[in-house]
Parts: sequence; C-alpha cells; structure tokens
Amino acid sequence: MSDAAVDAAAVAEIVARGRIISQSGNQGSIHAGTIGGRPVLVKAVYGNPVSAFLRRTMLRREYHAYRRLEGIDGIPHCYGLFDGHYLALEYVDAPTYRDSPPKERDRFFERLFGIIEAIHERGVAHGDLMRKSNILVQHGERPWIIDFGVAEIYRPGFHPFNHWLHGFLWQHDFNAWLKHKYRREFDDMTPEDAAYYKPILIDRVARVFKRIFMAPFRGR
Ligand SMILES: Nc1ncnc2c1ncn2[C@@H]1O[C@H](COP(=O)(O)OP(=O)(O)OP(=O)(O)O)[C@@H](O)[C@H]1O
Ligand SMILES: [Mg+2]
Repeated sequence: MSDAAVDAAAVAEIVARGRIISQSGNQGSIHAGTIGGRPVLVKAVYGNPVSAFLRRTMLRREYHAYRRLEGIDGIPHCYGLFDGHYLALEYVDAPTYRDSPPKERDRFFERLFGIIEAIHERGVAHGDLMRKSNILVQHGERPWIIDFGVAEIYRPGFHPFNHWLHGFLWQHDFNAWLKHKYRREFDDMTPEDAAYYKPILIDRVARVFKRIFMAPFRGR
C-alpha cells in the first residue's frame, strides 16, 4: 500500500471513528486508527475563529517541519496535511517519557542526541523538548521526537528574527537533552557534555530559584 491510501476521506474517518488519544475542549483533538493496515495518528484542530486560526498556523508549521525531517530515524513519517486542519502522522506505539522514562538510559540518550543533531542538520530547531510528553520511549531505549508545533525552520538569506529564534531554540534543544540526561543535576555533567550546555536566561532564573528554595531539603 502506498501513502496515497492515506487520503482526506480516510483521515476524516479516523477523526470520526478512531480511538481518541486526547481531546482538549473545543481546541483540537488527537485520534488514532489504521489505514490499509498502517497505524496512523491524526492531529485535528478546530474551535472558534481566533483559536482555530492560531492552531491551524501551528499545525502548518508542524507539517513543514515534519516534511523537512522525512526519513530521519526517530521522527514519525508524515502522511500530509488535509484540508488545513488534519495532520496525519505515523502512529508510534510507545509511551511518553513522562509516563515511562527510559530503562536503558545510556543508549537512549546517545540516540536522542543523534536525533537532535539530525534535525538540526536539516535546519529545524524543535524548541519544546523540555516537555517530557514530546518524547516517546519505545521498548525502554528507543527515542522518538514529536510535536513540532513551535519548531523554527532556518531560512537562508536576511531574516534576523528567524535566525535569532532558530539559534535560541537550537540551544534550548541541547539544554533540554542535558536536563533530562542529568535529571537537572547539571553539576554532574561530564566536561564533554558541558560543552553543549549554555543556559539561556530563563534556565538561569529557574536554577537560581531551585538552589534557593530547594537548599533546605538537600540531603534529606
Ligand atoms: N506520532 C505519534 N505517535 C504516537 N503518539 C503520539 C504521536 N504524536 C502525538 N502522540 C501522542 O499525543 C500526545 C500529544 O501530541 P502532541 O504533543 O503532538 O500534541 P499537542 O497538541 O502539542 O499536545 P500537548 O499540548 O499535550 O503537547 C503526545 O504526548 C503523545 O502521547
Ligand atoms: Mg506536545
């Protein structure tokens, strides 16, 4: 079966009758089902005109990012964006990092680093990897990165804001990797890993707060 079987009608059918993965009020929803034997996940957006417009914009952004990243091991295959409000992706049968952290940590973080480098090489900075629900953990050791709703794609030429934002999110991706790998204990970083760490202002503020407020509980 080719990707062509995943058409607008089949995708709408999953939204109507598939398994609901999540439903956030009148904002949007996520559904899963199969098309021609392939597991497919559909992110659907709707809502009032203002929120629907914003979410459609994010979904389009996500679609462009997935297209750029096609073929990278650890990024779900994208079947397309249908009618501007249904994004169809390969469904990965794996829990999120939040629900089920990796068991083979060394292998997992080495692979996750490889995926981050691969997406950066294609000009995409993810920007939302601090959230553990945006990383899937398959068989306790294999990472998948999802949710490119705030990703920034590097635009060649004179685009100062794009270049600044891309650089900011690019660094944020490595900081997120280190945060998960070291469980926020940044002082334990190896010198090799520390070379990738550059706390951006918001991370610095969070660390200072943590040091001050968690100090009384250390050692308990
Ligand atoms: N390709 C996929 N395969 C399997 N599960 C997925 C996939 N994409 C998303 N999910 C599941 O749906 C959840 C929400 O997906 P995603 O983060 O892309 O949407 P979102 O609208 O940005 O939601 P949130 O606000 O919760 O981040 C994920 O945490 C994950 O459990
Ligand atoms: Mg998400």
